[in-house]
Order: sequence, then C-alpha cells, then structure tokens
Amino acid sequence: MTQHLLALQDFSKEQLGAYIEKGLLLKKEAKAGIRNQQLAGKTVALIFEKPSTRTRVSFEAAMYGLGGQVIYLSGRDTQLARNEPLKDMARVMARYVDGMVVRTYGQAIVDELAGYSSVPVINALTDLHHPCQVLSDIMTVIEHKGEVEKLHIAWLGDGNNMANSWIQAAARFGFALTLACPAGYDPNPAILAAAQAVASKPIRVVRDPVEAVREADVINTDVWASMGQESEQEARIGVFRPYQVNAALVAQARPGAIVLHCLPAHRDEEISEEVLEGPQCVAFDQAENKLHIHKAILAMHLGQ
Ligand code: CP
Ligand code: NVA
Repeated sequence: MTQHLLALQDFSKEQLGAYIEKGLLLKKEAKAGIRNQQLAGKTVALIFEKPSTRTRVSFEAAMYGLGGQVIYLSGRDTQLARNEPLKDMARVMARYVDGMVVRTYGQAIVDELAGYSSVPVINALTDLHHPCQVLSDIMTVIEHKGEVEKLHIAWLGDGNNMANSWIQAAARFGFALTLACPAGYDPNPAILAAAQAVASKPIRVVRDPVEAVREADVINTDVWASMGQESEQEARIGVFRPYQVNAALVAQARPGAIVLHCLPAHRDEEISEEVLEGPQCVAFDQAENKLHIHKAILAMHLGQ
C-alpha cells in the first residue's frame, strides 16, 4: 500500500477496491454496534486551509470512532500562514502525529508535504483532486447499482477537482464515463489524456448534456464555482445553466438511474431542488459513506 493518498492514479484497481471493501465492512460493523478500536493510541492532524463540513467532521468522527485522537488546525492558525516552508512543517508534524489529512489549494502543496513527511499524508481536497470523496461516492454507487465496472457514469458541469478524480477512478475501476462540460471548463487535459491511455472503457468529454446522460446509470454533478472561485460565481451561472441536473435531464437517462452530488449543493443552480430532494438522489448516502470510507482510509494508512 502506498503510504500517502494524494490522487487515485497512484493506486491499482485492487488497492482502490480494498478501500471500498473495508468501508463496507466497517459500515456493517458500525450498524451492528461492534466497537473497533484499531487506532487506539494514534493521533491524526487535520490541516485545513479551506472550509469543510462533511470531510472535517467525518474524518474526526472516523478517527475517534476507531479509538484515535484528532488535532484540527485551520490554515491561518499555523506558521504556514506566515510562510514557514512546507518541508519544515512536514518534518515537524511527523514528529508529533501518525498521519496528516490536508485540505488545501495547489496539489503541489500536498505533494511537497508528502515528500518530506515520514507519516502518511491524505488529500482531503485540493484544486486538482478530491480522491477520498470519489471513493465514498463509488462505495455508494456499488451499494445502489452493484458492480461499478458495468455502469455508465455521467458528469455534468465543471471539469473541476471532482471531475479529475472521477476520470482517474474510471481508468482504474474500468467504467464508462462521459463528462458534459461547457467549452473552456474541461477537466485537466493531462489527467484526461493519461486516463484515456490506460482505460478499458471510453472516457469522453462532450458539450451536449443530453448526450452525456442518454446511456447513464449514474448522473453526477457538483457546484459550478468551487472554493477559491467565488469571484467567478455570477459569470459561471450564465455559462453553466444548460448543464443543470433537473427532472427533464434525469428523464433522458436509463430507467432507475441514480443522481450523485458530493454536497454542498447550490439548489436550482447545478441541481434542481426537485432532483436533490427526489427519490433518485443519493447525496445523503454519499455523505454518510464518507464516515465509513474515512475510517477505512485511516485504518489502512495509520493502522500498521
Ligand atoms: N463533500 C465535501 O467535501 O464536503 P465538505 O466541503 O463539507 O467537506
Ligand atoms: N468542487 C468543490 C467540491 C466541494 C466538496 C470545491 O472544490 O469547492
């Protein structure tokens, strides 16, 4: 097992599948009231330079749930805010804690921390990737629709961090992925090309939202302006409007298709209130599964 979890491409299909197996097992154990203390005596630091509700609370609850302890640091509370070098931060933190869960801006920040850290660094969202979220989402898809490799998954809207992690997941798990993005908002081209080069099923970017959902078993979307892009919010609403996941669009997908949203959602922007609150939407199952997958990630990276 690679020590750090920075991006899904660093793992084989079997390794990614192991997180999901473990997440499903820990969920079953938790529902049965079984107490698992496998991280007793371990401490993880959460270093978050961007806001979070789900990821922060689910990582904290996961760590405490496995008997461990958490130290939460917001970006402004550390010397990083006063430009202490990342390589110093990484080596100091590794003397105190058994792992770091980091939410930040550039992927280069988590990569550099990992490069200097002797304890695991887990990527809890960067501008480029959101790998832990996509693992929770795939666990949710498997629970609702069975084997993920047999499915066609559609992504609607921005080619953002979530889209990039879904592309890497498609290449590894072997499911078909069609992304409908407006021109100028495509996913990262290098990530797309690398995934397409090794994928067993098509990974395509199209402009037409209906084309993306026509064969879809799963429809997936996310906010049109991610954290750090707040100043673009108004301009993006105009560009992205045709990509809204609403009842008319969902009706074009395969019967029984499910709708994913990692949350937080902007109602009646990227997803209509009707669809978000409707029976096909599994957003709150995704949110719950973050707890179980984060337990799996912590157990597998910190539990040795
Ligand atoms: N889905 C997700 O990462 O939510 P938070 O920003 O609340 O952590
Ligand atoms: N793309 C979103 C995901 C939030 C969980 C963002 O980066 O803000």
